[in-house]
Formats: sequence, structure tokens, C-alpha cells
Amino acid sequence: MKINNICCIGAGYVGGPTMAVIAKKNPNIKVTIVDINELRIAAWNDNDLSKLPIYEPGLAEIVKDTRNKNLFFSTEINKAIQESEMIFISVNTPTKTYGKGKGMAADLKYVELCARNIAEIATTNKIVVEKSTLPVRTAGAIKSILHNTGNDVNFDILSNPEFLAEGTAIEDLLNPDRVLIGGDSEKAINCLAGIYSSWVPQNKILKTNVWSSELSKLTANAFLAQRISSINAMSELCELTGANIEEVSKAIGMDSRIGAKFLKSSVGFGGSCFQKDILNLVYIARSYNLNEVADYWEQVIIMNNHQKRRFSDRLIKTLYNTVSGKKIGMLGWAFKKDTNDTRESAAIYVADHLLNEQAMISVYDPKVSCSKMQSDLNYLGNRTEEENHKGLTTCVDSPYEALNDAHAVAIMTEWDEFKSYDWKKIYKNMKKPAFIFDGRNLLDKSEMNKIGFEYYSIGK
Ligand code: UDX
Ligand code: UDX
Repeated sequence: MKINNICCIGAGYVGGPTMAVIAKKNPNIKVTIVDINELRIAAWNDNDLSKLPIYEPGLAEIVKDTRNKNLFFSTEINKAIQESEMIFISVNTPTKTYGKGKGMAADLKYVELCARNIAEIATTNKIVVEKSTLPVRTAGAIKSILHNTGNDVNFDILSNPEFLAEGTAIEDLLNPDRVLIGGDSEKAINCLAGIYSSWVPQNKILKTNVWSSELSKLTANAFLAQRISSINAMSELCELTGANIEEVSKAIGMDSRIGAKFLKSSVGFGGSCFQKDILNLVYIARSYNLNEVADYWEQVIIMNNHQKRRFSDRLIKTLYNTVSGKKIGMLGWAFKKDTNDTRESAAIYVADHLLNEQAMISVYDPKVSCSKMQSDLNYLGNRTEEENHKGLTTCVDSPYEALNDAHAVAIMTEWDEFKSYDWKKIYKNMKKPAFIFDGRNLLDKSEMNKIGFEYYSIGK
């Protein structure tokens, strides 16, 4: 089958950048990204590229080069399905918030809706590609829906999980460690491999069975998150023993069997994937009665929750056991630098805990809007919107304003610009003693001490 038209359902953090790169590298293929969210599609089509719904270094340039040439953003889902030979499903798969598996299992309702929609519309053969991260064996469910409700056309189902990390999405897509394609039709696999081979070397395109591909994605995320929880567990021990977590990370990371990446101790991992995928893995293991396997992976989440909680507990304890009525300046709200994504960001949970203790919080983040911060807190449902509005006083445009008169600074995201601030000026305008709680080990302790700050970091 020759692929002339590709459709991707879901114009999110995964669908948007991935399809932009596919379009850029395959100028002869028309790529249409569709989404039910009209506002999001309008933002993707905005002439002002700074208004794209997703911030990723390098993304705007690729969109500028390809948009309305061979990359299109649209809400006409059925039309795009109809005219495409290959359809990517890249809709979100959040943790279930209701019913069986609540708080653990992945909610597959959007994926199922997509499959039903494709079955209803398709009158020609299609290759359907799972791009969303899905529980192992989901392809079976998609296949069953397509074959039982379709119009007697042939559907091949492939699993092609995306390994990009936010903030480096474009770089990760252009130079992937590997591209993974799982499926049982060699022809379909080769079609998809052909698209990637426009820029990815053959030896990096791995072909597996569909279940291995689905499970590899969950496994990769679980292993990465496990490394962070492991180093964070050690950070607590470091704080009590006089060891230094950065020295420990460096020492173990130089062992080529361990490797240096993903050993950065922090206030806790966030992001849309790690927690969701591990909870999902735990749920699947329990559903097969593999309780030891489930407990093993669940501990990664337990440790991460502990790390977030421990950060705010330490802040409160150091501020003489009360933050009631005190202004705490937070730097960063995104779950990591170079993204405007806040899903599961540690900042949300730390802010929530401090608000419970009646602190007044003032946040600055270079890419996250005030309304997003408010809605993240409202989503937790622990306070009324008015209470959140009162507690999260000034999420201002200027970091200096956010920190004026604050009792403490909490660094939540490792944005580079935080390092180059005028910390002497910040110190001068804060209440004394002025505390810094550096959840990312971003600043230099001796420099901060020299200015006059009481400085606390992670694992030192
Ligand atoms: C992705 C993956 O697809 C998910 O499985 C992975 O584990 C996390 O990342 P992401 O791109 O980050 O999701 O999600 P999001 O930014 O929420 O984008 C999903 C888009 O799908 C949204 O714009 C939403 O409007 C759209 N959508 C959802 C549809 O178009 N149709 C639906 O039925 C449901
Ligand atoms: C992750 C995976 O890396 C990616 O392959 C997958 O496709 C989606 O999930 P992402 O969540 O975008 O990507 O970012 P990542 O860089 O993995 O960071 C996740 C969280 O871990 C962030 O909060 C980050 O700050 C934290 N982290 C990361 C640490 O605390 N320490 C580290 O050493 C690395």
C-alpha cells in the first residue's frame, strides 16, 4: 500500500510534534492532524506562532515550514479518516477517575471512540497505528471493534509507541534512540517503517510483535521513573548522613553498567506519563494476580509521593513549624524546564500542601499562565475556587515581584533563567531570615550562603 495521506487523531503533546516531524521529513505525504477541541486546532492554525498550543524548542520553525503545505490542522475528523491510508491514534489515556480501576487503570474510552469512528467511516483499507501509550493487549480490543463494526474493509493494527520527552520533543523525534513498531502484518509494518526511514537509520527501527511493543513502552517509563525514585530514596539518606547525592550520582553513574542519565535527585517526578503508566502497570499485574510484581512497581509511586511531601514538610518545619499567613515565593510550575506542561507537576502538590497550612503562595513560571495554575489546583478539589484564588495570590509576570517580601523561595522547576537572577536583589527584598528550598539543586549553596540566604537543597 502506498501512503499518500496520513491522519492523526489527537493534536496534543505527542500528536502535534510527531506529525510535524513526519510531515517535514516526508514532503510528499499529506499529514492531517485532527482534534475534537476546536480551540486547540485554532491555536495550531494561528498565524502568530507564539500562540501554538504547545511550547517545544524547534517546533514553531517546523510548523512554519510545513503548515498548509503538507501539514494541516483540522476538526474535520471524518474527512481526514476517509482520505487517509494510515491513521494514528494519539488521544489521551488518563488514569480512570470512576468505576472499576479508578485511580489506577488507564481510561481507554477515547481510544475506543476513535476506533468506532474509524470503523464507521472507513470505506477503504486502513493501517491503524496506536501512538497513545496503552495497556498491553489493547490492540486486541481495537482490532475487535474495527473488524466487528467496520464496512468489510481490511484494518491492520500497529503499535508504535512514542518515546519523546517534553522539552526535547523535536530533538528526540529527529534523532530517536529507536523507533519501535509492533504488529502482525509484515506489509503494514514495512509501510510505517518506510515513513520513518526518511530520516531514521534502518538499524534503529525495531520490529516486534504487537504485545512486546505495547509492553515495552510501559516498561521503559517504569524503568526511568524507578531510577528517579531510587536516587530520591538515597537523597533522604544523604541528608541524614552527610553524604552528598550529587557525588553519589556521579560515582555510580560512571559505572557503565548503570549509566549517568536519570540520576538527578529532585522534588519528585511529574509529567503526564510516569505515574499514569506505572499505575496502569500495577493494575495490569494485579489483574493477573501478580501481587509481588504490582507491589514492586507501586513502590516507585509511593517513594515519589513521599519525596514531594517531604519537601514541603521540611519547608514548614524550617520556617519555625508554621507557614500560616507567610508568603512563599515559588519559582516554576511546569513539571520540568522548557515546557508549558504542568500535568502531575510536583509544584501542584507542594502548593496544595502549603495552602492547607494557610501559606500565601506567589508563583512565577516563564511559560505557564496564572489561569492554568489556578485550574491545576481547582482540579485537585481540595478547596473552593475562591479559596485557591485567595491563597495563590500573585502568580505574576515578574520573578522579582513574586519573591518580594517572601519568607522563603521554593524552586520547583529547573528553568535555566533562575540561575542568572540577581539573587542579591532578591535577598534584599525578602523577609529575614531568607530561606531558599531548592527542589532541583539548581543554585550554588556557597554563593547563596555568602549572600545571606539559608539554603536547603535535596540530598545534601
Ligand atoms: C499522549 C498520549 O497520546 C498518551 O497516551 C500518552 O500516554 C501521553 O501523551 P498527549 O498528546 O500528551 O497524550 O495528550 P493531550 O495533549 O491531552 O492530547 C490529546 C488530544 O486528543 C487532545 O487535544 C484532545 O482534545 C484530543 N482528543 C481526545 C480527540 O481529538 N478525540 C477524543 O476522542 C479524545
Ligand atoms: C517521559 C519519558 O522520558 C519519555 O520517553 C516518554 O515518552 C514520556 O515520559 P517526560 O515525562 O516528557 O518523558 O519527561 P522526562 O524528561 O522523562 O521527565 C519526567 C520527570 O522526571 C520530570 O518531572 C523531571 O523533572 C523528572 N526527572 C527526570 C528527575 O527528577 N530526575 C531525572 O534525573 C530525570
